Amino acid sequence: MDLSIDVAGLRLRAPTLNASGVLGMSAPLLRRVYDSGAGAVVTKSLGPSSRPGHINPTVVEVDCGLLNAMGLPNPGVAEFLPELRELKREGVPVVASFFASTIPEFVESARALSEAGVDALELNLSCPNIGGEPGMCAADAGSVEKVTSAVVDASTVPIFVKLSPMVAEIAPIAEKAEEAGADAIVAVNTLKAMAIDADFKRPILSNVTGGLSGAAIKPVALRCVWEIAEAVEIPIIGCGGISNGRDAVEFMLAGASVLEIGTAVMKEGFKVYGEINKGIEEYLKEYGFSKVGDIVGLAHGRQ
Ligand code: DHB
Repeated sequence: MDLSIDVAGLRLRAPTLNASGVLGMSAPLLRRVYDSGAGAVVTKSLGPSSRPGHINPTVVEVDCGLLNAMGLPNPGVAEFLPELRELKREGVPVVASFFASTIPEFVESARALSEAGVDALELNLSCPNIGGEPGMCAADAGSVEKVTSAVVDASTVPIFVKLSPMVAEIAPIAEKAEEAGADAIVAVNTLKAMAIDADFKRPILSNVTGGLSGAAIKPVALRCVWEIAEAVEIPIIGCGGISNGRDAVEFMLAGASVLEIGTAVMKEGFKVYGEINKGIEEYLKEYGFSKVGDIVGLAHGRQ
């Protein structure tokens, strides 16, 4: 069965992508994600200049999930452009995730990345791990609108805006992103959380808190996708605890056109993309649907 789907003008061969942050820091790893069945790949978030990230420990496994505070380590946009060009030469659809602290930096990165030929940009407005800097501007509708509209003006490719679940109401923020010209909403980023080692009597992560991902956040992410789908017309990219075909289908029924899978790949390996595609296909066959798009938003009882 044909699993291809349109998202913001991009035709993807399958509705699964990797979530930013996992496997996203080198062209060969992203190439493997694509070769495993993903419809496109997403880079780890790139900043205007290189960052070493936080000191270890930066990752800890918790019940039903993963907690990480990498601190946005990355080589900087300029340094990563050759890797992006290599992926494009190999025919891999690439979404470049990026972050910045000021509007001029967002604009400069958006220009450089779209000129490098990436297929879309994902604005990471929602990293929970860089205190003191405006990394969490996804919590403020006005900032989301300002940054999104500046980036939309500066770039020639579709803009995906990744939102945080840590807000009282996510739908009005998604509406602001849509008004500012976003082409899709990515819902959602990680939830701020922590772990303590009872023997050492200290927080485990060097950053004390980190972003929680995986099965633990799935119902929260699903609720966010649902609420956003009730509020906007642009496509939604579902992200948060999707581990198998059944999870993927639930997100599509809630309104997601495509899905980002991160934590599950740490446990299942690269084969998770192909397996989730297969699970979606089996569901479509079982219920007599002919294409993926037919189930997007179906749980709302309107289509
Ligand atoms: C990091 C960034 C994120 O956007 C996130 O959700 C979790 C962790 C980081 O690099 O620290």
